[in-house]
Amino acid sequence: MARISVHDKEFDVYLSEEEIQGKVRELAARLALDYKDKKPLFIAILNGSFMFASDIFKHLNIDAEICFIKLASYKGMRSTGNVVTAIGLDQDLYNRDVVIIEDIVDTGKTLFHFLPKLQHQQPASLKIVSLLHKKEATIFDLTVDYVGFTIPDKFVVGYGLDYDGLGRNLKEIYQLSAAT
Ligand code: XMP
Ligand code: MG
Repeated sequence: MARISVHDKEFDVYLSEEEIQGKVRELAARLALDYKDKKPLFIAILNGSFMFASDIFKHLNIDAEICFIKLASYKGMRSTGNVVTAIGLDQDLYNRDVVIIEDIVDTGKTLFHFLPKLQHQQPASLKIVSLLHKKEATIFDLTVDYVGFTIPDKFVVGYGLDYDGLGRNLKEIYQLSAAT
């Protein structure tokens, strides 16, 4: 299906199921090589990354652990900017090789504010894998170590990503149609 509607908007197919699955296998192979014998701990950020996390993890043929967290952000009491807290992070990260799994990095704000919290626990290493990276929109100082696809700064849905709750179950990734 080339064009779909979600709520009031039209979307055109941007990445096919085959392209996504090919990239997932490629990323899993790179990670398996880099983390062999390290028993890495993957931390998947809900909700958007659930499908990517599941697919990448099942192709990872090394010993590894995974946990799922939700991030809640709120404004600090003073003008300290945003504070991000993790819900469901009960693992001890000390001396662990940690890999964050994200569906998409946009401005980089969420992870920029969240990473220091994890660094505080002194992991042996801390890296990020993101299926999508809107590189030209990233204004926070953040390195995405493993990127699936660098994409333009246009809204996308599918494969875990939603538009106002819908679209997560699509097997492809769709981009907001130029016409809407
Ligand atoms: P930042 O700006 O903190 O944003 O890097 C990351 C979060 O913003 C959401 N996001 C999107 N969600 N389609 C979506 O469905 C998009 O095109 C999109 N761009 C950003 C997403 O929740 C991501 O984790
Ligand atoms: Mg997300």
